[in-house]
Amino acid sequence: MSNLFSPLQVGQIALENRVVMAPLTRNRASAGRVPNDLMVEYYRQRAKPATGMGLIITEASQISPMGQGYLDTPGIYSPEQVAGWKKVTDAVHAEGGKIVIQLWHVGRISHTSLLPEGAQPVSSTEKAANTKTYTAEGFAPVSAPRALTLPEIAETIEDYRKAARNAIEAGFDGVEIHAANGYLLEQFLRDSCNDRTDAYGGSMENRARLTLEVATVIVEEIGAGRTGIRLSPITPANDIGQDSNPQALFEYVVKGLARLGLAYVHVVEGATGGPRDLSDEGITFDFPALKKLFPGAWMVNNGYDRAMAMDAIETGKADLIAFGKPAIANPDLTYRLEKNAELAVPDMKRLYGGSGPEGYTDYPSLG
Ligand SMILES: Cc1cc2nc3c(=O)[nH]c(=O)nc-3n(C[C@H](O)[C@H](O)[C@H](O)COP(=O)(O)O)c2cc1C
Repeated sequence: MSNLFSPLQVGQIALENRVVMAPLTRNRASAGRVPNDLMVEYYRQRAKPATGMGLIITEASQISPMGQGYLDTPGIYSPEQVAGWKKVTDAVHAEGGKIVIQLWHVGRISHTSLLPEGAQPVSSTEKAANTKTYTAEGFAPVSAPRALTLPEIAETIEDYRKAARNAIEAGFDGVEIHAANGYLLEQFLRDSCNDRTDAYGGSMENRARLTLEVATVIVEEIGAGRTGIRLSPITPANDIGQDSNPQALFEYVVKGLARLGLAYVHVVEGATGGPRDLSDEGITFDFPALKKLFPGAWMVNNGYDRAMAMDAIETGKADLIAFGKPAIANPDLTYRLEKNAELAVPDMKRLYGGSGPEGYTDYPSLG
């Protein structure tokens, strides 16, 4: 019988166990949005499958300069960034670990000060989100976006393709498409945000078009066995609003992903980093029904502890469990889960930014 510590073949990626490090933005890239040596050390510490994690998903990394929405997040579009990430993947592989990169375009969750020549952020819409981002001047309301034109949508899809190619050049085992948490792809998916009247707006099929086209070009470029995706059907993150029919929308999306043969689907259950159950607010979603539509590996996330994770794998509700905050504070997360040892809690004041080891690479391992 499968358990949290048993191996799994995920597309082309052979994993020693089911414990996954969730994507975690830490805002620590160097000039040029290039991964640096402290980032190499951070991922290396979490890489050894027997003690660290079976799979690492990197922090979200922008596919283009226009895809950035927060200070000092790394990119995967320049040769310098590819070289920086190569040091990370070499270190992870030297420990026997596996690592995929989360490919990110923030869309409207950005600020003119973070974009080339003070450009306006882009989205499916001209409506601004009521949320803040983090800039060189501290927290600031996000800037009003403009809607992408059709030629710009085609260019953005090509940016995803190039980013996936760069990821393989940088030595990654695969990529995870970030279609969650209110960023660009979700800004197209949900009718609470997408108000277009062209082929990328209106019907569910039109709103899902960008996500499925992005997945298609990435599969063409690097193969389905190295491609995963993150979805968050009912998260309210980043003021995205609720879709009028999330069940139908995400079932349509997952059926399309199944046809493409993606290696895995990664779902955030409930509000990202918040409640798993939103039924008090009248928001429900049938996650098991979604899983039934996908033959590949099914990864779940959001508020999992040891007991929930073990139960989800043993009862077949999921194949992989992604841990966010526990992976920040426990470089030896698999070891602690296996031994049922106490988990350290992260220093919440040091989640984002900084240049030293404090709250980043100084969390101890047991033993
Ligand atoms: C510091 C921090 C950074 C995060 N960055 C990302 C990110 O880059 N991409 C993403 O999809 N989710 C991101 N998330 C969400 C986590 O991946 C995860 O969904 C969330 O923490 C819930 O899982 P947990 O209860 O195991 O922590 C982030 C969360 C935290 C706390």
